[in-house]
Amino acid sequence: MIRWLTDLHLDHAPPEAIQRLHAALRSNASVPVILTGDISTASRLVEDLERLADAAEAAIYFVLGNHDHYGASVGTVRDQVLALNARRPEIAWLPPAGVVTLAPGTALVGVDGWADGRHGNPMTTPLVLNDDKFIRELAEQSSRAGRLAVRRALADADATRLATLLSRARESGAERILVATHVPPFPSALAAGQRIAHPHWHPLLISGATGEVLDAFARQHPEIHLDVHAGHSHAAAAVTIHPNLTVRVGGARYGRPTIQPESG
Ligand SMILES: [Fe+2]
Repeated sequence: MIRWLTDLHLDHAPPEAIQRLHAALRSNASVPVILTGDISTASRLVEDLERLADAAEAAIYFVLGNHDHYGASVGTVRDQVLALNARRPEIAWLPPAGVVTLAPGTALVGVDGWADGRHGNPMTTPLVLNDDKFIRELAEQSSRAGRLAVRRALADADATRLATLLSRARESGAERILVATHVPPFPSALAAGQRIAHPHWHPLLISGATGEVLDAFARQHPEIHLDVHAGHSHAAAAVTIHPNLTVRVGGARYGRPTIQPESG
């Protein structure tokens, strides 16, 4: 019903790897494509999306990952993708696209999501992401506390948007809601046994705000199944949070952009 791709990082991929990806998309054309962020970087994002859409010959629904803002600001990139959608309506950033009906009873919604330091300790973790250097809103901050405040503002705005979208999907009669987001919403979605499962990573890899919204909605509406698709950690994982809330995280390797195997 869909083709799911995540963390393509096309700026790291050699031309032949991108050609292989386009060929794979062409071989199964007309099935909607869902991208859960980290497509490339700001200066080439629009061109990369257009080439993917050309190959897919189908609607492309995407959320933005942190890397998609590298070299620019969050505001600038959002303007770029809105302008792209005005020019090519089949390439849609999900938050403003609203509730997309994939099939009778199945809806798609999405928000970017930002790691918000609500799991682990964001003030003492020894780890940092390049976001702090390459995303303008973060780079402008002179302190860790300032950067955390920016991340939380972004994460909270996305979580609020997600709550609205889930309500609208329910009102539309959806029995299954596919939620696309870049940042995993729960620590248990980080593949166990890998170094990213260490609590030092949690502030950088989890959006607690998104998790709270999903958890509350799933508890309030046990008749609706939430099927979350995320990326960001690059480590494939699938977890059941509640009987009606499952989270899948896509595996990814720099230089090898692929279609996720479990999408069909
Ligand atoms: Fe990534």
